[in-house]
Amino acid sequence: NRVVLAYSGGVDTTVCIPYLKQEWGVNEVITLAADLGQGDELGPIQEKALRSGAIESLVVDAKETFVKDYAFPAIRANALYENRYPLSTALARPLIAKLLVDAAEKYGADAVAHGCTGKGNDQVRFDVGIMALNPKIKVLAPAREWGMSREQTIAYGEKFGLESPVKKSSPFSIDRNLLGRSIEAGPLEDPMTEPPEEIYLMTKAIADTPNEPEYVDIGFEKGYPVSLNGQTLDPVSLISQLNEVTGKHGVGRLDMIENRVVGIKSREIYEAPALLVLIDAHRDLESLTLTGDVTHYKRGIEETYGQLIYQGLWYSPLKEALDAFIDKTQERVTGTVRVKLFKGTAKVVGRKSDYSIYEPDLATYGEDDQFDHRAAEGFIYVWGLPTKVWSSKTRG
Ligand code: ARG
Ligand code: SIN
Repeated sequence: NRVVLAYSGGVDTTVCIPYLKQEWGVNEVITLAADLGQGDELGPIQEKALRSGAIESLVVDAKETFVKDYAFPAIRANALYENRYPLSTALARPLIAKLLVDAAEKYGADAVAHGCTGKGNDQVRFDVGIMALNPKIKVLAPAREWGMSREQTIAYGEKFGLESPVKKSSPFSIDRNLLGRSIEAGPLEDPMTEPPEEIYLMTKAIADTPNEPEYVDIGFEKGYPVSLNGQTLDPVSLISQLNEVTGKHGVGRLDMIENRVVGIKSREIYEAPALLVLIDAHRDLESLTLTGDVTHYKRGIEETYGQLIYQGLWYSPLKEALDAFIDKTQERVTGTVRVKLFKGTAKVVGRKSDYSIYEPDLATYGEDDQFDHRAAEGFIYVWGLPTKVWSSKTRG
């Protein structure tokens, strides 16, 4: 029997290789590392997997798919979990689940495996994603069952000749990809402890940001980000360049206590500069191009959409149905949004669109005013009537 293991090169997933073979009788382990722009060198990771006993070590460059098919739909949905977290880690999981299932089918494996613990969200996202894509494939999650502490895990690896991490490992648990970094554990477990500056890599401290503001024009087409400052960019370059310019101004940090799927509250620090700015800019362009009722109705859809990404339901029928709604709403969300970056803030300061339904002649308080002021009187009579009747009965 043969298993495809999601592989990051870290201690836990490396120990999974001998563990699956020794304890669970797996014959052949194929590792799969996805390049989602986490900035690791994947060559050494490949070698490490083979040295640790894998028969094959796959590396898949999935950056473009990640941005195009996972991040961009979330941006069109203005998806935030609990109104804040732009789901930078959560969005990677359904894609990795898909890569695992594809590889299992291609290499004739009957199971896939991951190194998630039983306390997190990621196990939910992997397991549910995998069962949605191929209900016949078994999911193995050794770290959910082995009950080893970090020290025991390292010792177990050493028994099978895996070298322990060279540097003293950091007290933080960090997940990173092109969209952002998620940092938890260690001193951050005390919610009153301010995050130390050294945990941030994508965003500058305010003290180190430029003293002059910088503007960036973000172009959208049907709700998809397509350009920066008038220059058309492919999805991956657009995110990388926007991360660069926004991070430099200290934009994109979050510190939150969130509600995990498994019922635990956890404290997580995020940096996701481009993603947060894109959602803000996109929402602003919608305010120019969508009618009020669609905008208001979409808010509820967005909340649900953010929740279902967080909760591992990317490949669910609900998600598909909401996508149909969102697609329809995005047909005219095309235009440009100007964002001003300065000292940790990114403020929308201008927007324009060929599909704008903002009418200066209706909005103006000047001479060109086209709005029929007297029409308001009859409208208000009817609009306020139920309240007036109610009031006359209750207030006497
Ligand atoms: N809490 C975030 C989420 O559920 C990130 C999870 C991984 N975080 C980490 N520091 N390893 O999406
Ligand atoms: C994990 O336990 O796998 C990391 C944290 C999380 O999934 O939320």
